[in-house]
Amino acid sequence: MKAIKVGLLGIGTVGSGTFNVLRRNQAEIRGRAGRGIEITMVSRRNVALAREIVGDAAQVVADPREIIANPEIDIIVELIGGCGLARELVLEAIAAGKHVVTANKALLAVHGTEIFAAAREKGVMVAFEAAVAGGIPIIKALREGLTANRIEWLAGIINGTTNFILSEMRSKGLDFATVLKEAQRLGYAESDPTFDIEGVDAAHKATIMSAIAFGIPVQFDKAHVEGISQLQATDIKYAEQLGYRIKLLGIARRRSDVAGGGIELRVHPTLIPTQRLIANVEGAMNAVVVQADAVGTTLYYGKGAGAEPTASAVIADLVDITRLHTADPDHRVPHLAFQPDAMNNTPI
Ligand code: HSE
Repeated sequence: MKAIKVGLLGIGTVGSGTFNVLRRNQAEIRGRAGRGIEITMVSRRNVALAREIVGDAAQVVADPREIIANPEIDIIVELIGGCGLARELVLEAIAAGKHVVTANKALLAVHGTEIFAAAREKGVMVAFEAAVAGGIPIIKALREGLTANRIEWLAGIINGTTNFILSEMRSKGLDFATVLKEAQRLGYAESDPTFDIEGVDAAHKATIMSAIAFGIPVQFDKAHVEGISQLQATDIKYAEQLGYRIKLLGIARRRSDVAGGGIELRVHPTLIPTQRLIANVEGAMNAVVVQADAVGTTLYYGKGAGAEPTASAVIADLVDITRLHTADPDHRVPHLAFQPDAMNNTPI
């Protein structure tokens, strides 16, 4: 079967990670998806920079609409970010009958209802594993792994920048501004770091998780959002002396204790006893705890940002779409003889 053709709107850190991982692991990925997955077009305003990343392997254009207009492209990967142009392009891609993969948490948290309705109407998929907690497959865990459960609550460290800042302030006694600069240098922070430090980025991600966990619409405007900019080194020190660590948590919780029930959605700095696992998640790492009725407590931990961890999630969505929506029926259900191309003679 012919390879599925993918167009990347916006190739930067995550785009180049996606390109590299797809190339490096192409045999395994082809085996799992049932057919090859090829990025054949990419867009970036600075065409020369994009060419440095992809070489001759894909066509580079300055105008992302050229990719959407190409009838050969089956899946659009949106990596532009923000809610302006990205929203227009995603809606245009859906209208053109293309499946969409996006890492854009702000877009889905704010405009998710409109986007998912458009996709339903057109019969295409919008997949977004990379939008929450980078490389941790938390969307799949909530939607697939925990599908038998009634989820009671979830709580997570879902912003690497703020966790890095809090960790460095505590362990090295550095001040807020110095560590923020370092987080920006390391590429963890959003282009507007206010979204990180004021809790907005974490609230976008908590909003998306709450929609899946509780089957509610995405309602970012209903979230209580508080960041870490008011915290001082002394707060962190005193918390430590009392046996607590301060973490910025995104929390979504079913409220059966109030009349009419409902879901509580909030992001704020939280005191966590130091012996808890999640209190010891340090640096830019992410972790999400989910409390559910059948399975009990589960914990998901890993890299929440960065080129290849995020690419890992983007490619998981590409494989899902390829397998479920475009592959031959034999590849729709994973089974043991599932990777004919990737098999080798490794003894087991
Ligand atoms: N700025 C985000 C963070 C990047 O620090 O977690 C990944 O979404």
